Amino acid sequence: MQLTFTDVQHMNTTTLVIGVAKHPSEAVQQVAAAINVPVVDFVKAGDVDTTAGALTKLPIAHDIVKRVYAIGLGDGKDISTETVRNGFGLAAKALKASNVTIALETFTNDVLDAQQAAYLAAEGLVLGGYNVPNYKTTSNAQDVTLEAVALLAEEDEAIMESFTVGRIYAEAQNEARSLVNMPPNMLTATALADYAVDLAAQFDLDVEVLTKQEITELGMGGILAVNKGSVEEPRVITLKYKGTDNWDDVIGLVGKGVTYDTGGYSLKPKDGMVGMKGDMGGAAAVLGAMRAIAQLKPAKNVVAVIGSTDNMISGEAIKPDDVITMYNGKTVEVLNTDAEGRLVLADAVVYAQQQGAKAIVDVATLTGGVIVALGMDKTGALTNDDALFETLLEASIDTDEFVWRLPLTENDKKRIRKSDVADYNNSPGRDGHMIFGGGFVGEFVGDMPWIHLDIAGTSEAKAASPIGQAGGTGVMVRTLTAFVEQLAE
Ligand code: BES
Ligand code: ZN
Ligand code: ZN
Repeated sequence: MQLTFTDVQHMNTTTLVIGVAKHPSEAVQQVAAAINVPVVDFVKAGDVDTTAGALTKLPIAHDIVKRVYAIGLGDGKDISTETVRNGFGLAAKALKASNVTIALETFTNDVLDAQQAAYLAAEGLVLGGYNVPNYKTTSNAQDVTLEAVALLAEEDEAIMESFTVGRIYAEAQNEARSLVNMPPNMLTATALADYAVDLAAQFDLDVEVLTKQEITELGMGGILAVNKGSVEEPRVITLKYKGTDNWDDVIGLVGKGVTYDTGGYSLKPKDGMVGMKGDMGGAAAVLGAMRAIAQLKPAKNVVAVIGSTDNMISGEAIKPDDVITMYNGKTVEVLNTDAEGRLVLADAVVYAQQQGAKAIVDVATLTGGVIVALGMDKTGALTNDDALFETLLEASIDTDEFVWRLPLTENDKKRIRKSDVADYNNSPGRDGHMIFGGGFVGEFVGDMPWIHLDIAGTSEAKAASPIGQAGGTGVMVRTLTAFVEQLAE
């Protein structure tokens, strides 16, 4: 719903959200006058925290508007996208109103227009209003929905559209979060494939699911090797989004869908194993992006391929020293069964190429090495194509998801290719090993333009943030979606 300033007297709202800088803007003063609340006086008295992204509930009692929340905009000059998104994320957690009005113009200035503000408000509210699904028998937490949100802004179709786009991005990210948060006994490879089939039906995507028998017949030795110790069947999930009339110029999004990583016989220590339900974060990011892409309908063809299995132990499981034959016919000496993600991805990228991909982005919780290198808040990247990477980097900057590129040198490749008994080894060493993980996948991509994203650090958050609880973050959903939208331009 959209309202204009003059509607404020009659607006059917109990709660108003405004953006307030250190020196309140013209728009704030107008709204303040319309609702008869002395916002400027509150600011002067220090009753409003105008720090960028801070949230204050104003001390008012009023007939029309029962509550006013102020999101701090700092000095009001460089209003960053993160400030607005985070502010609304906090607001989502605080709002208990049945309906909410956003005074959109109070968030705009020369660097941030009403469309952007609408997009960020929707994104922040949906992300901040997300609750981790749980299995408590007494739980009653509810996600924030946007049905009751009205925008107080100029009459403008484009603004409402932006609001919807923000909502699509954030809902897709929340879906990815929920997948990451799901317990591994519930989210098996089969269950993940079922999810993808439902997603395809809901949003009109093409879907194909390969069973263990089909994967065996095709000879996807990497995925089968990782799956060998499991009683759960593996799956290879393919989704296609057709954005143009011809199936050419296809971008491939490939995700690691390891539903649980025990490490296999190169067993993880008990403390390092907890949390490995999240080892399908790459798959979740890809599925989330496909969900958003299917709704936003960019003019770009996309194929998503997810290799999914758990990495378990049994009398049949692979062992260090095994030599396996991959889908593309190359052989790999398995030095570490815990370096399983690259084996799964290597087969998946080859399959994506067969499905028409002309460039590939793979996303994976691949190595602890990326956490050592970059910390928990930066996604690590490798690439063989500067121009493609530039586009992805821009998308990541636009969506405030930090991505940092590491080098992949000939010397690194030499070490991946070093084995006395096979074409490759899957674990050349622990020095700079994020590069070996991604570099291994790159060997199977070949010369095709390619970007590798290691989200081992960013896929899960240890603590809550303004736009999320602890747990799955759904990282890279926004970047991948914006990336595909940019490729379509
Ligand atoms: N799934 C892990 C990587 C991981 C670590 C994800 C921490 C999330 C948080 C991956 O399969 C793995 O075990 N990698 C090994 C590679 C090593 C054996 C070369 C690692 O990072 O230690
Ligand atoms: Zn592992
Ligand atoms: Zn893993």
